[in-house]
Amino acid sequence: MIRVKTEHLGKDVDIVAYAEDIERINQGIDARSLPGNDYLGWAKYPENYDKEEFERILKAADYIRNEVDTLVVAGIGGSYLGARAAIEGINGLYGDNKVEIIFFGHTMSGKHAKQILRKLEGKRFAINVISKSGTTTETAVAFRLLRDLLEKNVGKEEARKLIFATTDKEKGALLGLCKKYGYERFVLPGDIGGRYSVFTAVGLLPLAVAGIDIRAFMDGAKNAMLAYDSDEINEAYKYAILRHVLYKDYGYSVEMLVNYGLHLVQLGEWWKQLFGESEGKEKTGLLPDSAVFTTDLHSLGQFIQEGSPVLFETVILEKDPEEDVLVPHDEDDLDGLNYLEGKGLNYVNSTAAEATLDAHSITGGVPNILIEIDRFDAFGMGELMYFFMRACAAACYLNEINPFNQPGVEVYKKNMFHRLGKPGY
Ligand code: PA5
Repeated sequence: MIRVKTEHLGKDVDIVAYAEDIERINQGIDARSLPGNDYLGWAKYPENYDKEEFERILKAADYIRNEVDTLVVAGIGGSYLGARAAIEGINGLYGDNKVEIIFFGHTMSGKHAKQILRKLEGKRFAINVISKSGTTTETAVAFRLLRDLLEKNVGKEEARKLIFATTDKEKGALLGLCKKYGYERFVLPGDIGGRYSVFTAVGLLPLAVAGIDIRAFMDGAKNAMLAYDSDEINEAYKYAILRHVLYKDYGYSVEMLVNYGLHLVQLGEWWKQLFGESEGKEKTGLLPDSAVFTTDLHSLGQFIQEGSPVLFETVILEKDPEEDVLVPHDEDDLDGLNYLEGKGLNYVNSTAAEATLDAHSITGGVPNILIEIDRFDAFGMGELMYFFMRACAAACYLNEINPFNQPGVEVYKKNMFHRLGKPGY
């Protein structure tokens, strides 16, 4: 279970004062009566998901794992961040999964594209193209490049069997391509937006190909759903209230999500998208930032400790990490490390976390919210991601913001299309 702790908050927050708001918000989410109600499908999805499609995802993942050693996932924003965050968070950066997963189509860098295409030259690989709208430029360009290469590498008919698409059930250019060429298709339900889609095929197919137990992932999500879909102030709503009060009453404008492992960098990226795109509207909202300690203590640490007091930290601590390494004995001890001999790195990491919490919150006066999870395994990750989604929706509603649209994203697109000469712009 997830625990939200306030012993390093350093600020008074009257959580109970929000009881009525939370009751109204929770009932509104369940009754789909709040702004953005067309996009609340994620709330019950861990229970309501399409079981037949789930089996097809498992089958497709088995097929991919048996046929190829590389899967390229083409998608941007909510169409890749959740899968990447979960895969890296659970498997680590150097896990032993037999299939390498490459994420492509989330920048327009020619160098990046060239390197990926060079790596795939002559290879038999699989593609999972993911786009709800089916028209996102970055994804569409990446898919055109990948399809072209795969067809050259293995021929059109064989390529067809290695392409899997996740898109809307009823509309979009990608759907048209699937129908024309007969690619196997998975659905991103119409009532679930990209950044809330990790429990749909958007996340599940890449996770299953990565060898992750997606049943456990969904079980974790369901566990969280049962715990956080309640009219009382549960842990998800407690987190939403704490960050809301730090923003509204204490004037903090930045929330920094802190993790203690490089395999969690992408979790920070997913979280930034979730909160940034959901909450940053109408000239309001906290700026979500992220850091990984202890590495960033040697860069951002100085700012956090003594710079402008604009931010608070939300620190995720894993209580029971799966793997560890012990510091070995050294006869000469010239590096002076024998005092750590026989100690696990996880022990050193958690000691660093305790020391940093005191340094930042007590000495530096930076409020710290703690989120404790048992383990970053499939179950724990499912639980945590649902926890954040529920908290994010509530946080937006506390700010009277629709969590599920992103009107501001269109502005750059229109300008870009105009400059690129896209018809109609
Ligand atoms: O959260 C969102 O809705 C966005 O980040 C989308 O996921 C992103 O823009 C990609 O859109 P699409 O899946 O339509 O290609």
